[in-house]
Amino acid sequence: MRKVFVKTRNVKNFIALINSLQQKYEGVSRIGLVYGEPGLGKSRTALWLAAQNDAVYIRSANLMTGRWFLEELVEELGEIPRYWTSDLFKQCINRLLERPQMIIIDEVDYLAGDQKTIETLRDIHDKTNVPIVFVGMTLAQRKLQKYKHLYDRLSEIVQFKPFSVSDVQDIVAQLCEIEVTEPAIGLIHSHANRFRQIVRLINRLEAVANTNNLQLIDENIIKEIMKNDSRQSYENNKGAKYILAG
Ligand SMILES: Nc1ncnc2c1ncn2[C@@H]1O[C@H](COP(=O)(O)OP(=O)(O)OP(=O)(O)O)[C@@H](O)[C@H]1O
Ligand SMILES: [Mg+2]
Repeated sequence: MRKVFVKTRNVKNFIALINSLQQKYEGVSRIGLVYGEPGLGKSRTALWLAAQNDAVYIRSANLMTGRWFLEELVEELGEIPRYWTSDLFKQCINRLLERPQMIIIDEVDYLAGDQKTIETLRDIHDKTNVPIVFVGMTLAQRKLQKYKHLYDRLSEIVQFKPFSVSDVQDIVAQLCEIEVTEPAIGLIHSHANRFRQIVRLINRLEAVANTNNLQLIDENIIKEIMKNDSRQSYENNKGAKYILAG
């Protein structure tokens, strides 16, 4: 499988959100939210965009406190964290005023239960005006809604949606090293339309193609692989036309 970053429709919407936050007039809030179901590529896209935009990427963790968050932020900003929480906060503000950088916070669901951390983020935004992007799961939007002062500042919201057929076509064409027919793409889309499932299936396709010396994958091969995988046993599949192990 090729190691390529695919610009799906979701990725393009995330890029548009960042561009729009960066272009807001002075005084207009620059906080955005990207949310969606697992495995659609939110984290990978957030990391890719952080690198493209020289942004700070922080992945929140379970049990993360405001102090822990500030320590991580100070470190990501390239400074040595001080001891007191108030000093950590000042370090972030001073550093961001000196050299503004966008902040992308992944797995924001973990922070959404902690009012103090959420308010600290709002303060960082208000004092520095740097864009802040929250990335979270499907419930993130509802979880953040209870913080009215923050929610009012969300000026851009993007939902990552399950892939369309043309997204799956792009993903397979760019990642898979074996050619796949159009009807086969349709079949993949109807069974697997999240990145993790598609990546797993592409790995299987390549392994089956290698073992059987195939140059082209059609819908019959996909059907056999799916039948085999749903049985979850190679034993039951001795009569299969293709050797499905890989
Ligand atoms: N644009 C992309 N191009 C190529 N591979 C991708 C892309 N986006 C995601 N992937 C791959 O798909 C898998 C799932 O992506 P990722 O972890 O980013 O999903 P997620 O939406 O953050 O899921 P979760 O909600 O569980 O955190 C990863 O293996 C990742 O490398
Ligand atoms: Mg993720």
